[in-house]
Amino acid sequence: MEKIQHDFPILSKEIKGKKIVYFDNACMSLKPRQVIEAMDEYYYEYPACAGRSHHKLGEIVTQKVKEARISIARFINANENEIIFTRNTTEGINLLANSFDFKAGDIVLATDKEHNSNLVPWQALVKKKGIKHQIIKSKEDGTFDLDSYNENINGVKLVAMVLTSNLDGTTIPAKEIIRTAHEHGALVFLDAAQGVAHQKVDVKDLDVDFLAFSGHKMLGPTGTGVFYAKHDLLETLEPFMVGGNTVEYSTYTDYKMLKAPEKFEAGLQDYAGIIGLVEAAKYIEIIGYDKIKEQELKLNSYITDVLRKWPKIKIIGPVDPALRSGVISFYIDGVDMHKFALMLDEMANVMIRSGQHCVHSWFNDKKIFNSARVSLYFYNTLDEADIFLKNLELILKIL
Ligand code: ALA
Repeated sequence: MEKIQHDFPILSKEIKGKKIVYFDNACMSLKPRQVIEAMDEYYYEYPACAGRSHHKLGEIVTQKVKEARISIARFINANENEIIFTRNTTEGINLLANSFDFKAGDIVLATDKEHNSNLVPWQALVKKKGIKHQIIKSKEDGTFDLDSYNENINGVKLVAMVLTSNLDGTTIPAKEIIRTAHEHGALVFLDAAQGVAHQKVDVKDLDVDFLAFSGHKMLGPTGTGVFYAKHDLLETLEPFMVGGNTVEYSTYTDYKMLKAPEKFEAGLQDYAGIIGLVEAAKYIEIIGYDKIKEQELKLNSYITDVLRKWPKIKIIGPVDPALRSGVISFYIDGVDMHKFALMLDEMANVMIRSGQHCVHSWFNDKKIFNSARVSLYFYNTLDEADIFLKNLELILKIL
């Protein structure tokens, strides 16, 4: 653990003489030096364009991006021509929403815990194209309601669901959802923003049609992401962003598109970011998902046990930490949890997120004002959990 923590430069720093306790990993993971150094190398050694310039530096970047595509494809068990580099999950979802040939009346089926990124693009299509957006309500404990899903899948065009919720950490039974969707002629998109950092995502094993994730939640650079689609489906999508590097040629009146993936990557890309993202994926693979899960569960269980001793604390989602990945989202009736989070930060550099976590729809429906959210990752320790809990108890006594 000491070696792992040493790889994350920010964890060796202090603010106002105190160590940082970083529990906001669902928003943004920290970056290991391997990622930072790979990005630095791009800027110091070959800060040029990929796919255009044939000079020595350009050729290096072209090769690095090619290798990155292979590497990221392997990371999720896809083929390299199925990987589109984006800025984030949100861009991937917008790509799908605006490139797929939706018709009025097409049904898109979602969970009741979609982040705005996997809600608003579909709501915009309701307004623009007249599609229908329908929701499967979770069970009382926050887990996915397969019975309700099975009753509502008929006639659906696209199932577009969050794999692991940023609100409460629950993961949907994706394989079963996908199998049923396919049996009913529906396609499936998974928002894996909170998924790939914590669990193996194998697109072939899942048989998922479309999937998106962000680099910044999986140790990677900000402004990096990936959109995956099965290749035959990718070729049927009409890019909604076109321009440089998306066409084979153009005349004053026409153009010929390149094939996927290039036709979806308009303009200059974030080459440093893409190169850094590869190092992030490598780092996760070296740690291994078993170890990641083990550490998250150990910490989640430890913290949950203490929180449950306070009757006024309400944990969102299932009580069992094993069902909540590294997330503990909680609230206290009548308390603005922003205040709570700010006190933790002020008193002990404990950094958590508070608010509605871009899942306003769920909070509005439940009439809950907001929550404080601890989100853990493998580099977090029991000592850090103790700092959080000690200060939490102090705040609870004041409140
Ligand atoms: N979706 C991110 C979060 O939950 C931003 O914090």
